[in-house]
Amino acid sequence: MQRVVVEENLKEYGDQGERRAIRGALLTFHQDPFFYPLEESYRYESDAIVVMEGGMIVAVGSADQLLPTLENTPITHYRDHLILPGFIDSHVHYPQTEIIASYGEQLIDWLNQYTFIAEQKFKDRTHADQVAKRFLQEQHRNGVTSSTIFCTVFPESVDAIFSEAERYNMRVMAGKVCMDRNAPEALLDTAQSAYDESKALIEKWHGRGRAEYVITPRFAPTSTFEQLEMVGALAAEYPDTLIQSHISENLDEIEWVRSLFPKALDYADVYDQYGLLRDRAIYGHGVHLTERELAILHERGAAVAHCPTSNFFLGSGAFNLQHAKAEARPIKVGLGTDLGAGTSFSILQTMNEAYKAAQLNGVPYSSLHTFYLATRGTAEALQLEEKIGSITPGMEADLTILDLKSTPIIEYRMQSASSLEEALFIQMMMGDDRAIAATYIAGEPVYTA
Ligand code: GUN
Ligand code: ZN
Repeated sequence: MQRVVVEENLKEYGDQGERRAIRGALLTFHQDPFFYPLEESYRYESDAIVVMEGGMIVAVGSADQLLPTLENTPITHYRDHLILPGFIDSHVHYPQTEIIASYGEQLIDWLNQYTFIAEQKFKDRTHADQVAKRFLQEQHRNGVTSSTIFCTVFPESVDAIFSEAERYNMRVMAGKVCMDRNAPEALLDTAQSAYDESKALIEKWHGRGRAEYVITPRFAPTSTFEQLEMVGALAAEYPDTLIQSHISENLDEIEWVRSLFPKALDYADVYDQYGLLRDRAIYGHGVHLTERELAILHERGAAVAHCPTSNFFLGSGAFNLQHAKAEARPIKVGLGTDLGAGTSFSILQTMNEAYKAAQLNGVPYSSLHTFYLATRGTAEALQLEEKIGSITPGMEADLTILDLKSTPIIEYRMQSASSLEEALFIQMMMGDDRAIAATYIAGEPVYTA
């Protein structure tokens, strides 16, 4: 006789990756629906089971098929819920957690008025630890299981986020911000110290557990030629690290880059000259990229992190994702919150704003496309699709459980949803942290509503 144990209140994590299973509706993507027929790009099961062990997904199938094989495996049954691959945030600044929703101005003033003040506090490891803890807890409350994170110029701030992520066995990509000009003195490193400190952090963290290092020049205006050169050399020395920065977010910023780098063809060319456009390089925003820049990003294999809540908050513009992914020279695109210019930890709310950005460009895409973007699409942009971003045996067991009736008005609206696509659209337009019923990282529940 089969035994089904329903565990309602899973609170602890870290019990050695014991075998456990979850049951509910399931959605996962195996290829990019922007390039392949949509109906061939995803798997939907109305009643599925996912079996996890040792931090990995070991079996996925319909409940009918798998239940008879799970005699001694505890099963948590999520009725009226949807099991999704964990959401991935491809661009976020954890030190800006305390300045989210700071009023006024566009990028450069906002950086000077708020960001550069807040980041100075991260020289203090205790402060960094406190914010790192709060930040990751908030990500888990929002179903985010993995993210690519900007720290500050201080190596202590990198140690803080990786140490906290390690407690959850969370796949986190993070790096020390490198900047040696055009910021307050207290936040500046040098070309040499940026190289030395980043290298030491790579040696310490890259590949330790699920941690991956991201070489992180903040953006072209805050690095000298010498620093970009040394950071580029480091990226060549460690070709399997990630690289992150910002590009073409704001029109004044682009003008500034033009005046600081008069010999460069354009913004992308600055990074290209220093070997910073390559596979596993991801650049925030790209709102105003030209055709030449898109072509060079494509050629080099570099990706863009689309951060719509931030772009609207700072008045930067509406990134045109359909154009960036044009078939002739497609760019890899991930979805990012870009907190604290971004206004929400919620990936559902970020999807909502991505839809509106697409509407402003006159080329909207479906809810299924958007759920792909927030999961496997972002994994592909980071070249992590062999590990995270979809639900199949052999993938790491990072999962987000969506409550499809998380508020009275969503429950009411769902009564007239007549397709999967419509149900998903309702979730991404109306849902937020309240829609996250549980978050699993490496097979363990790290958050339960
Ligand atoms: N460009 C350089 N630094 C930043 C930052 O912290 N946030 C955003 N949105 N853009 C940047
Ligand atoms: Zn950013």
